[in-house]
Amino acid sequence: LALTEKAEKRPLNVIVCGASSGIGLALTQQILSLPQVGQVWAGARHISDGHPLLDLKVKHPLLSLFPLEATQESDFASLGQLVEPHGVDWVINCIGLLHDQEGLSPERKIEELDMNSHLKVYQVNCLPTLLLAKHLKKHLRNSQQPRFVAVSAKVGSISDNKMGGWYSYRISKAALNMAIKNLSIEFQRLNKQMVVAAIHPGTTKTKLSEPFMAGAQKKYEIHNPEDTARNLLKVIQQFTEADNGGFYSWDGSPLPW
Ligand SMILES: NC(=O)c1ccc[n+]([C@@H]2O[C@H](COP(=O)([O-])OP(=O)(O)OC[C@H]3O[C@@H](n4cnc5c(N)ncnc54)[C@H](OP(=O)(O)O)[C@@H]3O)[C@@H](O)[C@H]2O)c1
Repeated sequence: LALTEKAEKRPLNVIVCGASSGIGLALTQQILSLPQVGQVWAGARHISDGHPLLDLKVKHPLLSLFPLEATQESDFASLGQLVEPHGVDWVINCIGLLHDQEGLSPERKIEELDMNSHLKVYQVNCLPTLLLAKHLKKHLRNSQQPRFVAVSAKVGSISDNKMGGWYSYRISKAALNMAIKNLSIEFQRLNKQMVVAAIHPGTTKTKLSEPFMAGAQKKYEIHNPEDTARNLLKVIQQFTEADNGGFYSWDGSPLPW
């Protein structure tokens, strides 16, 4: 792993958002096993009794859980206050929405667009990254290995769109990608070692992809969340300053915007 000697000496303080399930949960588990890890803060909107994050917390005293509802800016502000005394090195946002139990689901054609669902998908898929940036920016200033990463999706690529459909999800991820590009410019002025990036995790068997697995299996390689977390960690650890402001696939290869 391409960690500099300097960075290896200082423990890494890491924030994972959307840590309650799928990719975010697997990432939190694996980050806690990294030899260079310091404090880990894992955000989730609600954690019920018996949730795996509670077991993890018992085993890892450096893990803290914090409440994070994507639509509540006050939760992001509280996170900023929580981490202020420690400083932050990595921020990884895994929050995402494709469908829900209230009938929200990806559109096959424009007639299926529902205004409230569209706004909700945008709110969950794009805004949290901006709110994390707003409330954590100053805490990344002194990091020796600052990484600000959003888990995006290849379907958010404008130039790669060959199939149409999925209006809200595609548009929200394209907006997220622009947010990442814009932040990469501002954050690089704050800390020259900064890498702000969007990463496509690869098709992964999770709550979010579950209803579409049958179709996806015919077209794509399917990963389990543990493999995806390993892939993403490898990409994040191998980032150098030259990768700032990019959109990458799970294997580290660049993706077209
Ligand atoms: N799985 C794939 O094939 C795939 C492919 C491309 C991109 N992605 C992206 O990967 C990321 C992780 O998704 P996943 O596959 O791991 O799905 P997942 O298991 O459904 O995880 C989504 C996470 O987002 C959280 N979340 C959703 N709405 C929220 C809200 N309003 N406030 C706070 N948290 C909220 C969920 O919390 P709850 O547990 O409370 O619902 C959960 O922790 C997403 O950004 C997704 O778009 C996934």
